[in-house]
Amino acid sequence: MKKIGIIGAGHVGLVTGACFAKLENSVICVDNDKEKIKKLKNGVVPFYEPGLQDIVRKQLKNKRLFFSDSIDDLVESSEIIFICVGTPSSADGRADLSYVEQASVQIARALNKIKKFSSKKNNYKLIVEKSTVPVLTGEWVKRTIEVIAPTGIDFDVAANPEFLREGSAIKDFFEPDRIVVGVENERTKKIFNEIYKPIDAPIIFTDVKSAEIIKHASNSFLAMKISYINAISQICEKVGADVEMIAEGMGADSRIGRSFLKAGIGYGGSCFPKDVKAFISIAAELGYDFDLLKDVEKINTQQKNIVIKKAREFLWNLKDKEIGVLGLAFKPETDDIRESPSLEIIKLFLNEGCIVKCYDPKAMENTKKFLPGLYYGGDAYDVARGSHLLILATEWEEFKKLNFDRIMKLMRMPYIIDGRNFLDLKKLKKSGFICCGIGKKME
Ligand code: UDX
Repeated sequence: MKKIGIIGAGHVGLVTGACFAKLENSVICVDNDKEKIKKLKNGVVPFYEPGLQDIVRKQLKNKRLFFSDSIDDLVESSEIIFICVGTPSSADGRADLSYVEQASVQIARALNKIKKFSSKKNNYKLIVEKSTVPVLTGEWVKRTIEVIAPTGIDFDVAANPEFLREGSAIKDFFEPDRIVVGVENERTKKIFNEIYKPIDAPIIFTDVKSAEIIKHASNSFLAMKISYINAISQICEKVGADVEMIAEGMGADSRIGRSFLKAGIGYGGSCFPKDVKAFISIAAELGYDFDLLKDVEKINTQQKNIVIKKAREFLWNLKDKEIGVLGLAFKPETDDIRESPSLEIIKLFLNEGCIVKCYDPKAMENTKKFLPGLYYGGDAYDVARGSHLLILATEWEEFKKLNFDRIMKLMRMPYIIDGRNFLDLKKLKKSGFICCGIGKKME
């Protein structure tokens, strides 16, 4: 059993802390959002992540998981301290590392207090970058702590990037393909072998810089796979080929793999867009122009414009037309709307003077904070009522089970654009709809 501290109780920190507590470690989670901490102390998780609330409640009850707003308490009581704060994109695409710096300073200041008042011989601390950070961040963390905390504080810095997907984060924690850890010495390696011992997955030990690059390189590669198949979908549109058949034919090759070859309105979320930008930015700073990733971004933007083009082909003039949008979250099984392709498409339709109505099983409250002027339907049928066009923007399972005969009666015109190639277009055509997917033959 280890004493673990988590700084930042967001999607990454809270999952990491709760799951480490489930593995019988003692975990204290800190966040600077006092409201969030208050909710968490009562077992309320302020975002939707399947299974997380149960684990948090159980570990609170088992007295293995604690919440606080004091970093001093966390540093004093923890041997391993995970930095899980946000690293959002700055306006110029660079990762904003001010929260990582702030956490490093707070850790150093807390170490000072321990040094003064604690006669304990072994006050060793392991500081771990869990947040996605550009290469060389670990050196900055180490230097910041060395400058602020006096010599004689015994600590190491390591990088342990997460590969959690929203909507399956718990499963991804306990059943990862691999665990990546960047360490400086054998002592750190031993600690990671201990805390990850219960997890049946290979641990790949590297130096800190390589671990930092593995994260950016992995996410950028996945984003590139998505943009690649989206580019192929555009060629399919020109010749009437089927992008899903192409993805199947490609994916059967074990060197390519079937996953992340789903064409659609593009990738969103709090990671891919941010990580691709940050990787381009740090590469430029190091003197490498990452043109390949710039094209990944460009293709991803194009996919939203294609939906507008398709809508125009159906509706002729877009002004004052009623557009129903099914799905707001950046992907199903989450309420997260950060960089959601659906919201980007909605903004494009609003710019065309359209009236937009929308529904999402989980992400409506989050969207209302950003787009208060939209019509938020009670369900998909409410959104379909009077609409000229229906767009499937997020592939929530419940949209597959809709009664489309009822939808047909509710709509003003029979047009459907399936932005995620999720629906059975042949079946919809039989019900009288005029519909299209992305990179699919018109039905
Ligand atoms: C991603 C990485 O998968 C994860 O390893 C990392 O730790 C965090 O970022 P996440 O952003 O939660 O996870 O979701 P993911 O399932 O990867 O999907 C990201 C976006 O890509 C979504 O908008 C999704 O709709 C889109 N996507 C995904 C595609 O458009 N096509 C695909 O084939 C797969």
